[in-house]
Amino acid sequence: MSKHQNITDVLMVGATGSIGQFAVRAARRHGLRPRALVRDVGRAEQLLPDVELVQGDLEDSASLRRAVGEVDAIVLTHGSGGDSRSDARAHVDYGGVLNILRALDDARPRVALMTSIYATRSDIPGATPWKRRSERLLRASGLPYTIVRPGWFDHAGPTQRRLVLEQGGTADGGIARDQIAETLVRSLLTDTALGKTFELIATEGDEPSDWAELFGALKGDESGSVDGVLDPADLLVEAEPRTLRADLEAIRSVRGTSG
Ligand SMILES: NC(=O)c1ccc[n+]([C@@H]2O[C@H](COP(=O)([O-])OP(=O)(O)OC[C@H]3O[C@@H](n4cnc5c(N)ncnc54)[C@H](OP(=O)(O)O)[C@@H]3O)[C@@H](O)[C@H]2O)c1
Repeated sequence: MSKHQNITDVLMVGATGSIGQFAVRAARRHGLRPRALVRDVGRAEQLLPDVELVQGDLEDSASLRRAVGEVDAIVLTHGSGGDSRSDARAHVDYGGVLNILRALDDARPRVALMTSIYATRSDIPGATPWKRRSERLLRASGLPYTIVRPGWFDHAGPTQRRLVLEQGGTADGGIARDQIAETLVRSLLTDTALGKTFELIATEGDEPSDWAELFGALKGDESGSVDGVLDPADLLVEAEPRTLRADLEAIRSVRGTSG
């Protein structure tokens, strides 16, 4: 099992997805025991043979309690891409994180959350704030976390294996799916990744050899702040809709991170 003393059982949210399937494989490669949250067990059995499956839906908090039970860590790679509802991002990208945090009660697993490279970019056509809002919930929870904002999936050639981790929301570029998965799992196993938020792209060069150094070079998010350390100072919490502020407060109060 895991060489990291604290982490063995890992809940994989979005495990049947294009990144999630790589994340399950990466978890296994590192000696972890993945448990997949899935909506359709029959379909998941085909995609994820020999993986523990727990049926549940991110839109139904009660269905998540069994999935989150007794896990040491959670990797979240879910997404609403296949959902045609106009409010799918609110319900799945954001609501999924909210409901997982609610289902945890007072458990304290380590969390790796995948969002997106443009999470803080209001100037990009079609960009929405829902991923950024989901990040805020996780920071407000006080759980030990790492937030990975990957660049364009598959827009990295076979010789582009060097990872570039940037902060501040201005990065642009591509990344292979296996690199995203590896980074998410490594973040669970590397203490210098704790409390960090970063954009992730790949450039020409070799795979990282020292993950502690790679994560360690980043600035940590400020304690008590709901934003990434170098995020632009817009989308002010005070100006957010009342229901979203209430969600943040509820997470803080359940987790004991208020004021
Ligand atoms: N494309 C890019 O270049 C790019 C770049 C950066 C970030 N992103 C972000 O990456 C995400 C997509 O990642 P991906 O390609 O791995 O996605 P994907 O292949 O569409 O997989 C999405 C996963 O989320 C699960 N899911 C969706 N709704 C759910 C629900 N209500 N309850 C439980 N599970 C649910 C899906 O489960 P089912 O199998 O049951 O549907 C699936 O496992 C998107 O959110 C996108 O914004 C994309």
